[in-house]
Amino acid sequence: MVISPVTRFLLVVLSAVILVALFGSSSLFLRYSSLPLLPCSLRSSACFSHKHNPSSITLTVEKTHLTDTPHHPLDPLTITEINSVRSVIRSYSVFSSSPTSLAFHSLTLLEPDKKQVLSWKRGQPLPPRRASSVVRFLGNTHVITVDLAEGKVVSHSQPNNNAGYPTMTVEDMTASASAPLSDSRFNKSVLDRGVRLSDLACLPISTGWFGPKEENRRVIKVQCYSMEGTSNFYMRPIEGLTVVVDMDTMEVIDIVDVSKDVPIPTSVGTEYRYSEQQENKHKKIRDLNPISIEQPDGPSFVVEDGHFVKWAGWEFHLKPDSRAGVILSTAFAGFTSELFVPYMDPTNSWYFKTYMDAGEYGFGLQSMPLVPLNDCPRNAYFMDAVFVAGDGRPYVKENMICLFERYGGDIGWRHSECPITDLPIREARPKVTLVARMAASVANYDYIVDWEFQTDGLIRITVGLSGMLMVRATPYTHANQIPKEEETYGSLISENIVGVIHDHYITFHLDMDVDGGDNSFVKVHLEREMTGPGESPRKSYLKATRTIAETETDAKIKLKLYDPYEFHVINPLKTSRVGNPIGYKIVPAATAANLMDPSDPPMLRAAFTNNQIWVTPYNKSEIWAGGDFVYQSRGDDTLATWSERNRGIQNKDIVIWYTLGFHHVPCQEDYPIMPTVSASFDLKPVNFFQRNPILEAVPNLEKDLPECTAAAAAATSS
Ligand SMILES: *[C@@H]1O[C@H](CO)[C@@H](O)[C@H](O)[C@H]1NC(C)=O
Ligand SMILES: *[C@@H]1O[C@H](CO)[C@@H](O)[C@H](O)[C@H]1NC(C)=O
Repeated sequence: MVISPVTRFLLVVLSAVILVALFGSSSLFLRYSSLPLLPCSLRSSACFSHKHNPSSITLTVEKTHLTDTPHHPLDPLTITEINSVRSVIRSYSVFSSSPTSLAFHSLTLLEPDKKQVLSWKRGQPLPPRRASSVVRFLGNTHVITVDLAEGKVVSHSQPNNNAGYPTMTVEDMTASASAPLSDSRFNKSVLDRGVRLSDLACLPISTGWFGPKEENRRVIKVQCYSMEGTSNFYMRPIEGLTVVVDMDTMEVIDIVDVSKDVPIPTSVGTEYRYSEQQENKHKKIRDLNPISIEQPDGPSFVVEDGHFVKWAGWEFHLKPDSRAGVILSTAFAGFTSELFVPYMDPTNSWYFKTYMDAGEYGFGLQSMPLVPLNDCPRNAYFMDAVFVAGDGRPYVKENMICLFERYGGDIGWRHSECPITDLPIREARPKVTLVARMAASVANYDYIVDWEFQTDGLIRITVGLSGMLMVRATPYTHANQIPKEEETYGSLISENIVGVIHDHYITFHLDMDVDGGDNSFVKVHLEREMTGPGESPRKSYLKATRTIAETETDAKIKLKLYDPYEFHVINPLKTSRVGNPIGYKIVPAATAANLMDPSDPPMLRAAFTNNQIWVTPYNKSEIWAGGDFVYQSRGDDTLATWSERNRGIQNKDIVIWYTLGFHHVPCQEDYPIMPTVSASFDLKPVNFFQRNPILEAVPNLEKDLPECTAAAAAATSS
């Protein structure tokens, strides 16, 4: 099949518009990459094209990464760079007395200024490479900037411990989980409850901040489970046993041991591993035949130099980040800024469970390799991460991000003529999108974050929740045993197990430069208008009124179904052919609002979840919605406090913060592992294109797609 000149032209225009509009006029140059429209002549073998017909994409990720070099100003630090930054910091005069006491809590690229990134062109030398590192040294936090070329520390600051502590290291988490074993009272309590010490599985749980008592010490609470008879120990909590550990010294500070008579729920029925579901072994498990979407000509995206993605007019830089998980840049910049997960149980063993998963645990640090063919389909491109351990040494986290084209049988656009006109028109286009995915397993919970790009310019951001509930053990085995007046803080989901009600809030930092940096935030208010007496048979209609938000206060948005608005980010200086300002809109979908009291201590820290949308002027140091140092923070450095300055946001480089929320009232179907629950929001072009940008999309024809019959597949695979 030949791409007609018209198609080519329009795709180039589409691409160019997205680029110019999203990158600014100094846009990166788009190279037209052809869509997979070539006819496939190799019928049955094409079904296995991933083996026989490798695409243009280099799927051989170099697993060691030892020889990686940076190609783009935003490329993550390489192994070589990390090693040299590590030695610069270790020999820095402030630490050189005892470099082994240094703990590296983060070590990442200090991104060059946005201007430098946008004006950089492929082939030019990179702007100076700098690294930013947060270290702990003898009880204090230090923020260090190292210039790679100069090989020295170029800035150093020491934030006050009262401002909060940095993201835990993986070593902090593993060491604190086993710290309780150093205390004989803990061992005794576990044994008294009938659990062998060899069956223990313990979780390090961030403490939040609940007042002066918890200041001046970096503390964590450890709670444990029994692994006897199951890998799903999360369903077997040892209720009421909480150990408070000093994370700097690994000393047990306190043990709270209550609810000793609450039984540990059974292991029966808790397994979720395919290999361990014994009852299924002898019966046919499969209701569905295996499924895979094949791409006879391979995928149509290209990943240049490991991180630069090109697909259907989109171009963006994609990289892993230890705190945010995934960072997308240049097409527009977006990442997960913070998560807030409060549990709705105020009792002693539970009240502090108000996690901030990005700032406390590291959303990227907690991500695990994606599972080919199940987490990501055939033809997915996998990207590894290079992160830094507590001692400053680099390590590779394989397959942390995957990138793939999705075709779920959806329709891009369609129209058929009906018998009224009797025109023989049947036009439909398949919808294919590009997904960048990561999955973090923050102990029990799994978060799946998808950044999905559409050919019509829409970006959908979806968060999926799976994994295991955090449950509490209860004496009850049936709902009818629970006294009416007794508060269980959740629902009985199995014998002796209560799934505790909780929320999830995921706050995204979205730096959208719509056709250049000078943007405004417009609220489009939909209101009922009444007609005048005798004016019309109709009494009412809807009217849209636009107001430009002048300051941050004008742009703090709480969603209301019966008082609706659209939220546009426009470039007031650039208009479309017919004179509309070009823009993108933020389209919320099903979400949840934070209902906790604003003066509740967790809410002081998570005040950034008080609105679904905030708009701030771009500021390179306002990145993390809960503040730079979230662990035990008091909430005096958050999006909410920055916004109190009520800065101007009109005709400026602005950042949109969107918080996606979930209320979760657990039910039996969430046991022993939760089917994925998803919610999303969209960034959608509004008067950005001159008309439907996928008007000239090409329909699929029979000859473009090989038919994968079962017989053909069997023949090829044998
Ligand atoms: C507690 O039990 C663990 C595991 O058996 C053991 O290694 C540790 O020494 C014990 N702690 C104390 C204080 O006895
Ligand atoms: C940028 O943000 C930081 C942190 O909120 C603040 O201290 C600084 O004054 C801001 N800079 C500007 C130019 O507003």
